[in-house]
Amino acid sequence: MRTKIVAGNWKMNKTFEEADTLIYDILDLLEERGKPEEVDVIICPPFIYLELAGDITEDSPVFVGAQNVSEYESGAYTGEISAPMLRSMHIDFAIIGHSERRKYFSETDDELLAKAKTALKHDIAPIFCCGELLEEREAGKHFKIVKQQLEQTIFKLDAEDFARVIIAYEPVWAIGTGVNATSEQAQEMHFYIRELVWQKYGAEVAAEITILYGGSCNAKNAKELFSMPDVDGGLIGGASLKAEEFVQIILAAGE
Ligand code: PGA
Repeated sequence: MRTKIVAGNWKMNKTFEEADTLIYDILDLLEERGKPEEVDVIICPPFIYLELAGDITEDSPVFVGAQNVSEYESGAYTGEISAPMLRSMHIDFAIIGHSERRKYFSETDDELLAKAKTALKHDIAPIFCCGELLEEREAGKHFKIVKQQLEQTIFKLDAEDFARVIIAYEPVWAIGTGVNATSEQAQEMHFYIRELVWQKYGAEVAAEITILYGGSCNAKNAKELFSMPDVDGGLIGGASLKAEEFVQIILAAGE
């Protein structure tokens, strides 16, 4: 069975004290309610809190991920954080290709592929985001766009590397808007992505690859979204900033 995952993308939120409190609150609630064994939990705080998060979660079942990673391994790239640096901090995951990075920081498909390759080389699993804009969905182009996004990036990886990637389908119109994709919309896209993976990498890889849904996923809609056969959990933004709600989403993934 493929792994179910609930990952929290904190984006650029929380001060040091708030981050500290949130992590302890998540751990306390998970201990109290019991983390579902089949669900992996990942928190992705801003870079400067990775050490804190790593220390607090050390003896817990919660993993820590980064929100980005450089495509370069070292050198004169002011302000960047490399995969070897993350590895040296025991970080196991990095979000790559989030639509906010594509939009506000002009990250291109070539850069995203380079980031995925560098991360994998240093044993960091990419949580690779894809998803269409509202106008693309309204024009009926959503399948075509997602296919292109995958073909121009992670579908260029060899099978061994690709099998270590986690895909996150995040329709851009659903991110931070309060308008989530319906469970049917999520399922049909996840099924489509799994079919593309099957065509490219074969049945075994397609059956095992984890495909997360992201975009206004919250404690109210998580259960229904996660009940879809090809939705293997979620990448959660706003709702991962509140311990109670985030833990409810984790529990929903285990139901
Ligand atoms: P949201 O963000 O849950 O706040 O919509 C999801 C994401 O951007 O990963």
